[in-house]
Amino acid sequence: MVKINFNELILSEKEYLIKMRREFHKNPEKSWHEYETSKRVKEELDKMGIAYQSCTETGVAALIEGGKEGKTAALRADMDALEIEEETGLEFKSENEGLMHACGHDGHTAMLLTAAKALMKIKEELNGNVKLIFQPAEEMVAGARKMVSLGVLEGVDAVFGLHLWSDLKAGKINIEAGPRMASGDYVIIDFKGKGGHGSLPHQTVDPIPAASSFIINSQAVVSRESSPLDPVVLTFGQIDSGTRFNIIPSKAHLEGTLRCFSAESREKSSEAIKRYAEKIAESFRAEADVEIKKGTPPTINDAQITEYAKRAAEDIVGSSNLISMEKTTGSEDMAYYLREVPGAFAFVGAGFEEEDKNYPHHHPKFNLNEESLLIGASLYFNFALKYLQD
Ligand code: NI
Repeated sequence: MVKINFNELILSEKEYLIKMRREFHKNPEKSWHEYETSKRVKEELDKMGIAYQSCTETGVAALIEGGKEGKTAALRADMDALEIEEETGLEFKSENEGLMHACGHDGHTAMLLTAAKALMKIKEELNGNVKLIFQPAEEMVAGARKMVSLGVLEGVDAVFGLHLWSDLKAGKINIEAGPRMASGDYVIIDFKGKGGHGSLPHQTVDPIPAASSFIINSQAVVSRESSPLDPVVLTFGQIDSGTRFNIIPSKAHLEGTLRCFSAESREKSSEAIKRYAEKIAESFRAEADVEIKKGTPPTINDAQITEYAKRAAEDIVGSSNLISMEKTTGSEDMAYYLREVPGAFAFVGAGFEEEDKNYPHHHPKFNLNEESLLIGASLYFNFALKYLQD
């Protein structure tokens, strides 16, 4: 474990932090159903004397008003769990059958409450306000969008969020400017032809070669239409067509996912997918209906806010433990806040030194190294101070 400098105000809440994390861990709730968690968050805020409002049925937006005039920093945590049967054998393991905190959101919620408690002790000295966002439904990448549409970011100048990350050992933190996670869009294509007998293809319009040709050629959307320096992923994970070996069907149905790291490549790739599908279908005398359902935008860290966050992290773990990490093609709901106001998203190491204790997020044996909790809580706390002080 690396040498860590904790703020005394956070360190004195260590017991509270672990207790809260374990309590949330015992009671995981699925996306949009975080009723008990939300109730507990509100009870804790009441005890601290922090005013809050419900935002969505289970989301909570609270405000710590600083003693001095200034900017408003938002700190965000997510509260939902996953439909997984827990296999950790922990003494505080899930008591809700078929549900588990297998992503670390139990830790995020407990860390933000702990940071809030510490911030309240120095609120008279704060140059501005701290908004606390406890959001539902991150796992469905839907909660943030809803809270943003209800105005949770009104008056907010900068937003900061984090994820406990099992791929990094506890004590390491990653914060970098620019794209950090990809957009995730849902691509649905129907190739429509005219069915008939397999022995008489000329009397039909066969959608299968059209769809097949499209799948092969659509990889050129990645290799020929997108900048090689701005990665794109296009995966078709599902094909449905036909009922029998000697019948030409009338339709071939494809579903896939498009991942991009910039708004520009997202728009260009979507246009190219549509063009490829329609033109390839046309060359086979078929037609293509293309629908691209927009999912999460890319998660892009603002350069200036990232600097505040890095300085906040350096104070805790030292600059040598602030490490670089490749961006990931997964998606994060945090993107919706970052699209509206400048902000940053950090990955906070939550892995164990002993490799055999580490499991990936969303695994039934996933567990957090609890050493990471104080670090995450300190990072929320320090970010607010650094940003408001300036
Ligand atoms: Ni998560």
